[in-house]
This record gives sequence, structure tokens and C-alpha cells, in this order.
Amino acid sequence: MNHAPFDLIIENATLIDGQRNPRYGADIGIRGDRIAAIGSLKEAQARERIDVAGKVVAPGFIDAHTHDDLALLQQPTLPAKLSQGITTVVTGNCGVSIAPVDFKGGAPIAPMDLFDPSGEAFRFPTFGAYVAALERAPASLNAALLVGHTALRLDAMDDLSRTANDVEIARMQSRVEEALEAGAIGVSTGLFYEPAIAATTEEVIEICRPMSRVGGLYCTHMRNEAEGVFDSLEETFRIGEALGVGVIISHHKIMGRPNFGRSRQTLPLIAERMKKQKVCLDCYPYAASSTILSWSRAQIAKKVLITWSRPHPEFNGMELAEIARRMGLSAEDTIADLLPAGAIYFSMDEEDVQRILGFEPTMIGSDGLPHDARPHPRLWGTFPRVLGHYSRGLGLFPLETAVWKMTGLTAANFGLVDRGVIREGAYADLTVFDPDTVGDAATFEDSERASTGIDRIYVNGTLAWHQGAATGARTGRVLKRSRGS
Ligand code: ZN
Ligand code: CU
Repeated sequence: MNHAPFDLIIENATLIDGQRNPRYGADIGIRGDRIAAIGSLKEAQARERIDVAGKVVAPGFIDAHTHDDLALLQQPTLPAKLSQGITTVVTGNCGVSIAPVDFKGGAPIAPMDLFDPSGEAFRFPTFGAYVAALERAPASLNAALLVGHTALRLDAMDDLSRTANDVEIARMQSRVEEALEAGAIGVSTGLFYEPAIAATTEEVIEICRPMSRVGGLYCTHMRNEAEGVFDSLEETFRIGEALGVGVIISHHKIMGRPNFGRSRQTLPLIAERMKKQKVCLDCYPYAASSTILSWSRAQIAKKVLITWSRPHPEFNGMELAEIARRMGLSAEDTIADLLPAGAIYFSMDEEDVQRILGFEPTMIGSDGLPHDARPHPRLWGTFPRVLGHYSRGLGLFPLETAVWKMTGLTAANFGLVDRGVIREGAYADLTVFDPDTVGDAATFEDSERASTGIDRIYVNGTLAWHQGAATGARTGRVLKRSRGS
């Protein structure tokens, strides 16, 4: 046993270990970046001790679905995420990653413009260049990175309205190999979005082929989350099966009134397939989605809020119907005027949201959009909302399960070794929160509000958030894929 003093002892914790075990009382001793001891440490020596009586200590939350690729570099303390207790983000989702793309000053097409409508931020011609930039200027929290299929198509093709040819596929494959080599944990697609719609199932399989050899995950914003959701699930399973890799169904949801209730069928189908192949899913705790603005999406929503508009920033945060009235235009023509733009769409059913969140294997992912002028509240509120509103308030699942869905389950699915768990030897990524007051404060009207009840956050053993503010410590790491995960 190591008798050297601990760097830190967190005393009188109510410990929730991220593995769904019932909470229990303990002290936690930290040395360097790791948890060194758990138990009664009242007699042990430590450089610093803090008393957290009444508070829960949980593994730092892992945001399974983000678009923080660029935010990690531009806002390295990521207050929207740290303030929720998040210590690791999975980036590059929905087919859009910041690398490997260089627009050489040109404007990016949607949805790549979710990062930066000007295009200037796209300056990583290889995935390795992005990883190196992140490691040179670390963020306050850890990141696990996906490379996006839409980004790869933009890099390899000059006409996105067709399927890739053999030469283009070969180029994309070599880019995937390069990304995996540089530390990417997998490939994401956004087959729902215009620049990827023309990609066939076969194109996706071929581009992802390097993962059959070296491992990695296939994460997908599926082609259709409305009437075609069953076909899209089958396509996703087929891609995973053909490659022999795990699949992650991103932000599983059911869109459009005629489809409400279909989670009654999608979840059993997913559960069935889980017996045969690795299938995972994530979900955000809101009945409204958010992405680029388009007429086809607006048509099936009962209400649309504008999150940003390049030509008309004065309408940010306003309802589309109200803007149309002021402009004296139809909704369709108003949208044409606002583009490029982003929006929130109220087009889901709360019962589906609760059924999907409550489904045992569902992980929590925010899908927050950190560059939107008036973002969807999921950017700031997702994790405390699950803990406060859905677990404590509605009793959808016990707190231990809620924590597992944002820690241990997620780390296991993504192959993040020694993360998402409180045990001796694991990394000291920790979130200290008050189980009675933890909750989201961000609303659709006022969406950039930090949550309540989050007390302290440690990232790799260092205090990153305390008393409602980032400490400025930047001890986040790029979490690379361990071989075979
Ligand atoms: Zn998506
Ligand atoms: Cu997304």
C-alpha cells in the first residue's frame, strides 16, 4: 500500500459509482490524475481535504453526442458543458466533423455551417492536424472524437448529389484510416442531411471498411426518424453487421405527429438486435429538435423557433410564424429569406421521449449546438434535466440509473477505459452535486442558463469547476481508441 499523502481527500461523500450500484457513504482519495483509495480516510494524510457531506460524488458525466469539435478550441473551458457536470464530450457527430476539411475561405454548405457559416474555422486538412491542435491547446474537459462522413464527402467529391465513385471511396477510406490512426474512435454519418442523402448503404460500408480491421464505432444520425424510421434502423444494423463493428443510433427520436407512439415498436426492435450485434443509442431529454432551418423540417413541426440567421440576426430567438407575419410572407418564403439559418422544431411527442429515455440501454447525449446565437436549451440543460426533472421529479428511473446512463454505460459503449466509474485506479473525473437541487435552468425562452446544484467538477484529478464558474484549469485529454474496442 502506498503511504504517500493523497493530493486530495473528498470526505463524507455519498458515492454513486456509475455502475448502478446503490449509493453509499465513503471518502475518496486522489493522487495525480487517479482515484487512489475509497473508504474511510479520516486518518490519512492529504495536501487538501474537502468535506462534501450531503452531496453526491459521481463519475464525471460523458456527453455521448456533441458538436463541440470547434468549441473545444474556441471556448476551451466549455461552460455550457462543465456547468452540467460533464467531463468528457464525444464530438464529430451527425456526419459533421471539423476535420479533415479545408474550405480555403469558401462558405461551407449546411449542415457543416453549424460550426461556422463563414468557413474560416475549417482549417484542418487532416484529422491528425486537428488532434494535434487540441493536444497543443487542451480544453478543460476530455474529448473522444469521431470523423464525419459528410466532412469526408466534402473533402473527396465535387458533386454531392450522387453516390461516390471508386476513386472517391478510396480517398475517403484512406482519410478514415488516417483519422483512426490519429485517435478517432469511429465514423459518424448524417444520412438525413442533403450532402449525404445520395450516399447508398454500400457507400457507407465501403468508406467505413478500415474499421473492420482496426476497430471503431459507427454512429449515425439516421436517414429517416419519421415514417421511415424502421427502414433506417435496418440500414444501421446492416452497416454494423457488414463491418463487424458496434453501431450507435444518435439521438433516437420519433418525428412528426403521424408517427407519434412508434417508439413502442422501435425499442423492442433495437432490444432484439442487441442480442445479435452491438447496438447502442442516445437521447436528449426534450420533445423539440434543433438543426439547420429548412421548409421540409418546418412543415412537420407545430412550432419553429429561429436559433440563428446569417442575413437576419434580428430574428434570432423568434418564432417563425411571428417573423412571417412581420415580413408579410408565407412561412416558406420567410425561410428562404432567413437562410442560412438554424431552428428549433417542436415535432416530437413527450411520451416517446420518456419511453426512449427510460429504455434501459439509452445513454444521455445533449446534441447541443454551441455556436448557435439562441441555442436549444439542451446545450446547457441536458444532464441536470435528466437528474432533476426526469429522475427526481417524474421518477422515470432511480438516481443511480440516471448516473449510469451518463457515465458507466457510455464509457463501456465507447470503450473509454477507466472512465465513467468510481473505483480505485480509475481516472479522477468526478462531479459533485446536490441530489435535492440538481436541475436544469435553461428554457426555450432563456436557454443559456447554467444548471443548479452542480457543486464541483474534477477532470483528471484537477478542479475544473467550482462555485458556478470554471477554474480555468485545462486538464482535458483526447481519449483515443484502445485497440480492439
Ligand atoms: Zn443529428
Ligand atoms: Cu447531432
